[in-house]
Amino acid sequence: TGLTALDYGFVNTASTRSRITYIDGEAGILRYRGYPIEELARQSTFLEVAYLLIYGNLPTADELAEFDGVIRRHTLLHEDMKYYFEGLPHTAHPMAALSGGLQAMSTYYEDSLDTAVPEFVEVNTIRLLAKLPVLAAYAHKKSVGQAFLYPDNNLGFVENFLRLNFGNMAEEYVMNPVLVDALDKLLILHADHEQNASTSTVRLVGSTGANMFSSISAGINALSGPLHGGANEAVLDMLGQIRDSGQSVQTFVEKVKNKEDGVKLMGFGHRVYKNYDPRARIVKESAGRVLEELGINDPLLDLAQELEQIALEDDYFKERKLYPNVDFYTGVIYKAMGFPTRMFTVLFAIGRLPGWIAQWRESHEDSLTKIGRPQQLYMGSPERHLNRS
Ligand code: CMC
Repeated sequence: TGLTALDYGFVNTASTRSRITYIDGEAGILRYRGYPIEELARQSTFLEVAYLLIYGNLPTADELAEFDGVIRRHTLLHEDMKYYFEGLPHTAHPMAALSGGLQAMSTYYEDSLDTAVPEFVEVNTIRLLAKLPVLAAYAHKKSVGQAFLYPDNNLGFVENFLRLNFGNMAEEYVMNPVLVDALDKLLILHADHEQNASTSTVRLVGSTGANMFSSISAGINALSGPLHGGANEAVLDMLGQIRDSGQSVQTFVEKVKNKEDGVKLMGFGHRVYKNYDPRARIVKESAGRVLEELGINDPLLDLAQELEQIALEDDYFKERKLYPNVDFYTGVIYKAMGFPTRMFTVLFAIGRLPGWIAQWRESHEDSLTKIGRPQQLYMGSPERHLNRS
């Protein structure tokens, strides 16, 4: 039989060619369509970046206005989607509510799911960008037992999302420009990261001919794991546990180094970054600014900084090139904004959406696309027989 190379976790196997995102993990470089992440985070907006990722170039002012306008016109969910949320227990994890909600929502668009029709791909791109944030906000409202608001199409993408989540709070809080700007930046930082587990999932599911909603719903599920997007939730849980246990940060770090009970330092380490994650640097700055603006003094931020300091100076982490990743400080910001911990990974999903869409679309444009079908090395029993007479 033919030779099959074994590569657990795809450490050394490219699954595709791509023109979307460039990473140099040794140097800590991340670029979307050639633009450094630092420039985009400082000077661009999430919608602009979404356009860039999906269509390949930054939009002109007119193109951006058109893109923004058409997204605003598609934000409303079918009214019957309220029964989907009604059917869930209030304890439902918002990530489960989100992926299930997206799949449920696609049943309203069965006349336009054919992946071979370019106009359908366009309208579903817009539907996803417009409606996923609404589904996400409803997953949040369901979990806290509050009323769902209708989207307000006079508002921009991030303002609308904040209002859907916090519309019951004071206007000055919801529309605080520092919060709007910080969330916009966080979404930009999460917007794509080449062939990570969830994006590879989106591509693999898409390679079977499954539509964009099904593929991205699968991507959301892949993102939910604590080694991937779920790490932002896990970081806050970890910080809370350290605080509540009364043990010192050093004691916790020793536990991680001794691999006691499989404890890891969540928000640290990365498959491709063997240097400081460039996104984490920007998030860290932003965390300080948001807490200052809101007048919050969160001991968990101090704890996170202490943990980072100790880890960066420790040989265990140095030898293994483990640095804070994007998830290390995001939770502190989301918490300050008022999001419950279980919403954190949902926010990651909204940020990653343009990347998933861009990658799904690219994989369909590529004439060399084949169904994804990894090989295996069979390790089981040789042929045997029932021997029943
Ligand atoms: N804490 C303690 N030790 C670690 C950590 C960590 N966070 N990450 C890796 N290591 C150790 C690991 O135990 C191994 O040690 P040894 O050589 O003694 O066995 C060594 O470092 C190499 O790690 P690996 O598991 O082979 O690395 P990987 O590329 O397979 O895993 C990772 C990458 C991100 C899954 C891992 O670093 C991890 O579990 N980190 C914590 C979870 C996390 O923060 N995930 C978010 C990733 S960034 C955003 C995203 O993708 O969502």
